[in-house]
Amino acid sequence: MRKQVVIVGAGPSGLLLGRLLDLAGIDNIVLERQTQDYVLARIRAGILEQTTVDLLHRAEAGHRLAEEGIPHHAVQLAFDYKSVSIGLSQHTNGKVVTAYGQTEVTRDLCEVRDASGSETIYEAADVEIHDIDTAHPFVTYAKDGVTHRIDCDLVAGCDGYHGVSRKSVPESAITTYEKIYPFGWLGLLSDTRPVAHEVVYANTERGFALCSMRSMTRSRYYIQCDVNDRVENWSDDAFWDEFRRRLPPEMAEALETGPSLEKSIAPLRSFVAEPMRFGRLMLAGDAAHVVPPTGAKGLNLAASDIHYMYDAILAFCAEGDEAALSEYSRRALDRVWKTERFSWWLTNLTHRFNDDAFEQRMKEAELAYVTTSDAGRQMVAENYVGLPL
Ligand code: APR
Ligand code: PHB
Repeated sequence: MRKQVVIVGAGPSGLLLGRLLDLAGIDNIVLERQTQDYVLARIRAGILEQTTVDLLHRAEAGHRLAEEGIPHHAVQLAFDYKSVSIGLSQHTNGKVVTAYGQTEVTRDLCEVRDASGSETIYEAADVEIHDIDTAHPFVTYAKDGVTHRIDCDLVAGCDGYHGVSRKSVPESAITTYEKIYPFGWLGLLSDTRPVAHEVVYANTERGFALCSMRSMTRSRYYIQCDVNDRVENWSDDAFWDEFRRRLPPEMAEALETGPSLEKSIAPLRSFVAEPMRFGRLMLAGDAAHVVPPTGAKGLNLAASDIHYMYDAILAFCAEGDEAALSEYSRRALDRVWKTERFSWWLTNLTHRFNDDAFEQRMKEAELAYVTTSDAGRQMVAENYVGLPL
């Protein structure tokens, strides 16, 4: 088989790229290790930047998002049980973020891909990427015990942090940067009314808490927990009890509780691999970088990578422009590092870990500064709504 582009991974990065290429008439195939049901069941963050929303509309996958997405005009930072709201629109010429789950984004992209008839191979095992340093790369995979080969012009590595794409690159050609945080997030999803209209990031002496939502009747909440903690150690009651104790009093009083639909613990990591292009292989999304979830940038960064990658592929397919492929890496990394900085900064500001008394006072002073100074509020707002592409 021959395709112009082989996309490895059917997460949001791979599906969004596949859809944009379809609309541009560029022949592509998606290879995914898991089943479609597995891909559609993953619960992830749920705050979309305007550029991500725009891209989903450009991919003609934004109908449900337009109807069900909830615009947020502000974000709240709470320190020691007092919350301050930072206006987003007023500091960013009217920009907002939209609450809409990544699970729903993936579902919408799967639906348009399936309807278009473009090929996606689920349960593709042993994916291997070959000859990326030549003009004739190819990808092999096994399905039902049979090995298949796809010749192509380009390979898009959209297979997440644990995928095969980044590992196909010789170690000497890649530089990685990593920071592991000494705590995790315990998340709970429930059909309860969200306690706040905006996302709340709370730093308390008991640890961090986050209030978010999926709809006006579905809440998504998190608490900082030990990195080695296990979800079995947390009954729903224990979660609600601890979560309530980390909220400002008026929110604690208004909190509606109910049975969990899902509960899980996620570790927090910052990670970047440079460059993001190696010959005919380009990496996007979690395959190239990971952000801690503070700020909800993971999906948004994946979407901006795809925006740049799509431009590069278009230029390459139209004019054979190899320089556009290198330009992809440069453009994407510029935004990746700035977004890594914001996610790291917000994580440090809102969590307590091994802080001595001085560091604790520094965090308090920094929070007082960013919530009371116009420049500080603007810095938070312009990063939260997403830096320009
Ligand atoms: N072969 C084929 N597919 C693979 C392989 C492999 N060897 N390894 C991983 N995959 C698939 C995974 O099963 C997954 O469906 O690649 C997909 C990668 O999807 P994501 O991990 O969601 O990564 P990405 O599409 O870049 O999305 C980034 O999703 O992971 C979150 O927090 C992250 O929000 C961010 C966004
Ligand atoms: C979520 O809605 O799951 C969410 C929101 C904001 C974050 C992280 C996760 O920073």
